[in-house]
Amino acid sequence: MSDPFELGLRDKVAIVTGAGSRSGGIGNGRAAAVLLARAGASVLAVDTDLEAAEATVRMVSEAGGEAVAQVADVTSEDDCARMVAIALERWGRLDVLDNNVGIASRGSVLDETPESWEHILSVNVTSMALTAKHAIPAMSAGGGGAIVNVASIAALRPRGLTAYSTSKGAVIALTKAMAVDHGSDGIRVNCVAPGPVYTPMVQEMGLDEEEREARRTSSVLGLEGTGWDVGNAVVFLASERARWITGEMLVVDGGVTLRSP
Ligand SMILES: NC(=O)c1ccc[n+]([C@@H]2O[C@H](COP(=O)([O-])OP(=O)(O)OC[C@H]3O[C@@H](n4cnc5c(N)ncnc54)[C@H](O)[C@@H]3O)[C@@H](O)[C@H]2O)c1
Repeated sequence: MSDPFELGLRDKVAIVTGAGSRSGGIGNGRAAAVLLARAGASVLAVDTDLEAAEATVRMVSEAGGEAVAQVADVTSEDDCARMVAIALERWGRLDVLDNNVGIASRGSVLDETPESWEHILSVNVTSMALTAKHAIPAMSAGGGGAIVNVASIAALRPRGLTAYSTSKGAVIALTKAMAVDHGSDGIRVNCVAPGPVYTPMVQEMGLDEEEREARRTSSVLGLEGTGWDVGNAVVFLASERARWITGEMLVVDGGVTLRSP
């Protein structure tokens, strides 16, 4: 048994998707990348936006960790295969995959076109199956690993973001299905379901101060969540400290889902 006081991430290799943060803030992927590197993992910081991924790499370097930026679109199977190949080429192994990419939607099914619906599902769910398809053989070859998918409480408490809620519900089901499929290969698969954390994705939705305050006060703790809160949950589930946890969803929301809107 490994040291029960260590995260066990030293000398491990992690891929974090959506590891950039467009407007320079702290997105969930950026926070996870920095925290995984702080815990001793080498991190491939993947994003469609190279500059954003490079900014994350600079934060990792300033924190004394190791990371490399990589441009990839996780809706492309070729890109998913390539990012795994790059991690293997550079570090010779793959232990952790943080499937963090996700985009927002607003409205009901009445507002969606077949194309917009497909796009949300492709970016938010199909991408996670594609990254996992290429990461799992690499993890198995090294004796196992951990996948953490980022879902959302929007799957548990829908509120007018229907395509998004549907995609995140599928992420939870995908997590459980992959946990069953790959447990015998030593691969654990869990998901984090964040509540309303203030990240660049949320900034871009154009919240005013009043809406931002309403999000904060909707939590039992009365605190605004940040990307760091989500990143720390990802690190825990990826770490050796979660060695007996698989197929689970960890809600990280300051208690938002405990009370009525
Ligand atoms: N912010 C919240 O309140 C909140 C709540 C619940 C869940 N989440 C989930 O957390 C995750 C991260 O959200 P965030 O708020 O930090 O977002 P963000 O927009 O700040 O960061 C996401 C990053 O993903 C990148 N990206 C988008 N599409 C990509 C693609 N196809 N391939 C590669 N990279 C791509 C973007 O360039 C961006 O840098 C998402 O899955 C989101 O659904 C966020």
